[in-house]
Amino acid sequence: MPTIYKQERKYLLMDYYTKKLKDWYEQIAERYDSWGTRDGEFSVAPISEEVIQFNKLLDKVKLSDGKILDVATGTGTYLIEVLKRGGVGYGIDISKNMISVLKKKIKNSHLESRINVKIGNAAEITFKERFDLILCIGLFDYYDFDEVKVFLQNMKKVAKKDCQFIVDFPNKNKKETYTFQEKERSVGHEVFIHKPEEILSFLKKQGFNILAQQEAGIETQFLLKLKDS
Ligand SMILES: C[S@@+](CC[C@H](N)C(=O)[O-])C[C@H]1O[C@@H](n2cnc3c(N)ncnc32)[C@H](O)[C@@H]1O
Repeated sequence: MPTIYKQERKYLLMDYYTKKLKDWYEQIAERYDSWGTRDGEFSVAPISEEVIQFNKLLDKVKLSDGKILDVATGTGTYLIEVLKRGGVGYGIDISKNMISVLKKKIKNSHLESRINVKIGNAAEITFKERFDLILCIGLFDYYDFDEVKVFLQNMKKVAKKDCQFIVDFPNKNKKETYTFQEKERSVGHEVFIHKPEEILSFLKKQGFNILAQQEAGIETQFLLKLKDS
């Protein structure tokens, strides 16, 4: 089957809301990395703050040249941070243009041969590889717990037994989170803001132990491990 036909079918089968998110990220992909550094742009907090915090969580992860999967990798900001420490990276995202920006960023660098990215929906993760670390940053903001549950189930399917996970959810206690929600609503997206205790109980119900958690910009980041590992 020609790839373009397969991709078109996948697009048609995607639900309306996911298509909407995809179309938005296709449009803004080229500007995504500079958000937060310029006034009047869409972001409400500099992404660099979240990256600094993310590295603090990474310090707690034992990574010996493992395989890392980044779900909704976007322009690869977080995957690249991990790969600076070693390992081989895999990524999926529904937006072709976000992936193109990522590919441009790593072109001719030492990372080019260590990153494999493809277009894909977090609700349907298919990899033959099994992963040591799975990231999912900036995706759960947009989906309710029922959908996040499906994403996590898909991640678990491709996780090694002792895989660790880094995920984030919007931080209910930051006023900027509500500014972000308003901005996203103005373009037809929802941002789901849960109470901290609801997030913890949700993650535990999905079979995770919470190894660490920390504030990062308008998000709370979590380091997780499967309970039965
Ligand atoms: C806020 S960006 C986060 C990108 C990157 N993880 C980061 O933190 O810089 C959200 C990303 O999720 C992607 N996305 C939205 N829904 C998705 C889905 N169902 N499956 C895979 N990617 C999705 C978008 O295309 C976009 O690249």
